[in-house]
Amino acid sequence: METQAITIRRPDDWHVHLRDGDMLRAVAPYTARRFARAIVMPNLVPPVTSVAAAEAYRDRIVAALPEGTAFQPLMTCYLTDDADPEEVARGFEAGVWAACKLYPAGATTNSASGVTDVRNIRPVLERMQRIGMPLLVHGEVTDPAVDVFDREAVFIERVGAGLVRDFPELKIVMEHITTADAAEFVAAGGPLLGATITPQHLHLNRNALFAGGLRPHAYCLPVVKRERHRLAVRAAAVSGSPKFFLGTDSAPHAVEAKESGCGCAGIFNAPFALESYLQVFEEEGAIDRFEAFASENGARFYGLPLNQGTVTLAREAVDVPERVAGVVPFHAGERLAWRVVETD
Ligand code: DOR
Ligand code: ZN
Repeated sequence: METQAITIRRPDDWHVHLRDGDMLRAVAPYTARRFARAIVMPNLVPPVTSVAAAEAYRDRIVAALPEGTAFQPLMTCYLTDDADPEEVARGFEAGVWAACKLYPAGATTNSASGVTDVRNIRPVLERMQRIGMPLLVHGEVTDPAVDVFDREAVFIERVGAGLVRDFPELKIVMEHITTADAAEFVAAGGPLLGATITPQHLHLNRNALFAGGLRPHAYCLPVVKRERHRLAVRAAAVSGSPKFFLGTDSAPHAVEAKESGCGCAGIFNAPFALESYLQVFEEEGAIDRFEAFASENGARFYGLPLNQGTVTLAREAVDVPERVAGVVPFHAGERLAWRVVETD
């Protein structure tokens, strides 16, 4: 008999962009209604580089949610070339920061103040290694001579391999992996090397960018890759390995910013993320591994307790609207096979 419903421990989202101001108020409830905790990306304008800025942002997130919402934003520190090891350690030890985010300068949205060369942040990485603070990596080189579809694989060669070698005790998360190269790199590493996986990189290959015309709502960074890579990322997600866990990379942009002569990178997947992931696990015959991916592996990697509540999804079709909170959501206009029917 086909599975008709599945109840899992309440999940966490280990990578999300909640934005600020009106957009924050519009989108944060969609993350908070499903996930107990989320690792919140620091690529605001200006970026979140100080403990004080992180605390203030955390307060704005909590204030954006309905009274009594049980949701814990886990804040991250945006690393720059002149990041101060003292400030980083102080924020982690005070429980403000859960991790640091490495954006290679220029790699993506609001990454202009990112790191130009990892050698510039060696003292910070040494300190993080010593205190057990995870490093979250946007793993793409920015060298314009490198083809955009190869930037993740080349990052692993040029930077990732050296990081793992030089900082063997540092917890490293390769964020939003998109290639067979990244899946193999992470699988081959030790237990301190993990990866998040988004729904879009499980569903889409690069044909989606050009299906009948230019499709800005399928554009995110790292850009979706060819089919061989999508299949490798799917295999990693459903493998049962504790190194792979849920991180939506939900990244909303206003419709005009996406549908533009120079469209922004980012897919707003928070509203139907669980439904989207579960569909993949079902297609792969791995429904029994969904709970570990969504609700256990990430918490264990970060050394945080597992959540107490549950979420139940039932095999009931759900039609994804064309707009959610004024933004075009992932799967807009499509019908998904599973629906969240209960959270407690
Ligand atoms: O597609 C993306 N959007 N990738 C990123 O790395 C950043 C994000 C954003 O902030 O819009
Ligand atoms: Zn992101």
